[in-house]
Amino acid sequence: MKTIKEHLGLKLLISYLVVLLVGAVVLFFTVMFATPGAYTRHMEMTGGGMMIDGSRPADQLGLGRGQGAGFLNFRAGVFESLGYAVFAAVLVAITVSVFFSRTIIAPLRAMMSASHRIADGRYDERVSVNGSDELAQLAERFNRMAERLDQTESMRRQLIGDVSHELRTPLTAIGGYMEGLIDGVLPATDETYDQVRMEARRLSRLVDDLQELSRVESGSYRLDIHPVQISTLVATIVRRLAPQYADKQVKLQIDIPGNLPEVLADEDRITQVITNLLANALTYTQSGGEVTISSAAPVGHDLLVTVADTGIGITPDNAAHIFDRFYRVDKSRSRSHGGGSGIGLTIAKAIVEAHHGRIWVESAGEDQGSRFSFSLPIKR
Ligand SMILES: Nc1ncnc2c1ncn2[C@@H]1O[C@H](COP(=O)(O)OP(=O)(O)OP(=O)(O)O)[C@@H](O)[C@H]1O
Ligand SMILES: [Mg+2]
Repeated sequence: MKTIKEHLGLKLLISYLVVLLVGAVVLFFTVMFATPGAYTRHMEMTGGGMMIDGSRPADQLGLGRGQGAGFLNFRAGVFESLGYAVFAAVLVAITVSVFFSRTIIAPLRAMMSASHRIADGRYDERVSVNGSDELAQLAERFNRMAERLDQTESMRRQLIGDVSHELRTPLTAIGGYMEGLIDGVLPATDETYDQVRMEARRLSRLVDDLQELSRVESGSYRLDIHPVQISTLVATIVRRLAPQYADKQVKLQIDIPGNLPEVLADEDRITQVITNLLANALTYTQSGGEVTISSAAPVGHDLLVTVADTGIGITPDNAAHIFDRFYRVDKSRSRSHGGGSGIGLTIAKAIVEAHHGRIWVESAGEDQGSRFSFSLPIKR
């Protein structure tokens, strides 16, 4: 019974058989009950086995022996009752098949009208799932697709809201500075112009980040995967960031053995991830603090890279959202710390996941430092 419920093909086969069986039963009983009556009537019509002039109908018709009036009457009777029987069987078969096809087609109809409504933008549309056959599975997938569309749509709306908000802040600042300059409230000093330039830079960085985010999130870029030696890659990045670390007097240490297996990665993209993590660590660590980038023997098929700092740390509820786009723990603090728009970690996560890796954060809490780790598949 369970197999039948799960397979539409079997259901269809059984429905054909039922139609056939019902037709046959109706045919049988109609023939059985109608034939004697029809036969008797034909006998009466022809006056038994003899014709009126005394000759036998078989002689008149030139029929051979064994095909006398009895036979003719019998044949006529059978044909008549068969006519009724076929009519009744077809009628019953049509009724039964209409019932079956309605039951089978109903979910398809429901999906068709739901898809029309979704196409009109009503993403909350769902169809009810009954049973467990292929049609029910289709309905379930249809619902899942509708849900994804619904999510994408609300993400799009949220993104537009977030982006407008992010753009408004520097634009308002620039507008304010310009107004102050025109009204003579603000002095036309280098400092004021510098502020305007800083806000303009913030704007263009935000636009660049957004472009990059949409590229990595939509997957519309190709990863150029090669075997990469992490220790070499990290050494290059650290050399580039060393002056910034020295400026803020934050110590930057590397703890990566040179004999680790190579990982399969897109060198440029992973450079972007590590640079992002090291830049964040520098931003959120006070002068005199320390940042360590480390990696150790592979865990399973992956190699872990960890960036640990002795900075401001992250509370568990913030840690849960830190990879969401535009999420900053403390917007004003992040700004005064020189932090950006909260897109860096979102981009890093998208890149790591495109490598089939994972990225996460651990922190003992506020002012306890943070540890960002990500995994990359090793070359085997
Ligand atoms: N090492 C860290 N220690 C403490 N908090 C951090 C650390 N790294 C990131 N955060 C928190 O996570 C938030 C998101 O980081 P993310 O890199 O995505 O954005 P951002 O640095 O603010 O801006 P940008 O888009 O320029 O990178 C930061 O605003 C900060 O609050
Ligand atoms: Mg950042």
